[in-house]
Amino acid sequence: MTQKIAVLAGDGIGPEIVAEALKVLDTLRADFGLAVETEAGLIGGAAYDATGTPFPDTTLKLAQQADAVLLGAVGGPKWEPLDYSVRPERGLLGLRSELELFANLRPAILYPQLVHASTLKPEVVAGLDVMIIRELTGGIYFGQPRGRRNNAQGEREGYNTLIYSESEIRRIAHIAFQVARKRDKRLCSIDKANVLECTELWREVVVETGKDYPEVELSHMYVDNAAMQLVRNPKQFDVMLTDNMFGDILSDCAAMLTGSIGMLPSASLDKAGKGMYEPIHGSAPDITGKGIANPIATILSVAMMLRYTLNNEALADRVEQAIRATLDEGYRTPDIYSEGTAKVGTVQMGDLIVRKLRA
Ligand code: IPM
Ligand code: MG
Repeated sequence: MTQKIAVLAGDGIGPEIVAEALKVLDTLRADFGLAVETEAGLIGGAAYDATGTPFPDTTLKLAQQADAVLLGAVGGPKWEPLDYSVRPERGLLGLRSELELFANLRPAILYPQLVHASTLKPEVVAGLDVMIIRELTGGIYFGQPRGRRNNAQGEREGYNTLIYSESEIRRIAHIAFQVARKRDKRLCSIDKANVLECTELWREVVVETGKDYPEVELSHMYVDNAAMQLVRNPKQFDVMLTDNMFGDILSDCAAMLTGSIGMLPSASLDKAGKGMYEPIHGSAPDITGKGIANPIATILSVAMMLRYTLNNEALADRVEQAIRATLDEGYRTPDIYSEGTAKVGTVQMGDLIVRKLRA
């Protein structure tokens, strides 16, 4: 049965990197018999420009009907003056929320070839393999009430609400324990339980959930310490479990350990395992249109799609292998370039990976 992938390229470098991921999908279809079809849709600023909303109904329908979604990136300076309700980011957040993609998996793996691309010392990052599990549809990103108002003194104030129900915490905790069980069986839950009641509950529920997984060693860390530990000694972590906002911040930090934010893919899954796949980086307006964006995070997102939604472990391995082989040959986009390697652009990197895939 042919499975359907909704492709939402979005803004900035989104279309450039998604084009390379589509080349990979086309190759898998043509040469490896992968039974998928793709359909493009609008999201973010591109959708706003075309339809007046960053999250058109047609896009929601397309995503709901599809078996998986591949997304590029959203946002850019052009749309920053707009009201929050129609900002490009609302499209992405709307999609996560409407599809109930509460479980966000962000693997930070340092490819040995890129040990010198990291800004950290090789011995600190060599062999790094951390999985960040970020809660994606709750917390302060979605909590009500939120907004801006004038207070009694006539001063402007802004407010947001950090709120989690225990069921929201429990379902993401289960995912984290299950992921940890398949890895090194160590889970570190991140909170700010010394200050925030909401995350005190987070810790409590994670401990309760852990009773079902006695084989997984559970620890807890305050988020400020976790940020420090990630750059001090990142290899101490196996799986990190975080709320929505802490996960946003810590995953950018973890990305840099791998040499570049252009290397980190992500999967956002619902309770049935349906998913949206996207690089964790943004639309990178500063390099848009220059043909130098790194397409690897997006191509790795395709590998995650093969693994988690299309249940094709063999092809997922094959895609990752093709990336490794391309790096082995010394090809680098500028973000991961180091002396003695060969600098290539977005399209060339995509072509090289496809060539390795076919080899
Ligand atoms: C991410 C991004 C998004 C987020 C933005 C674009 C809304 O930073 O996926 O990490 O904050 O979740
Ligand atoms: Mg982010």
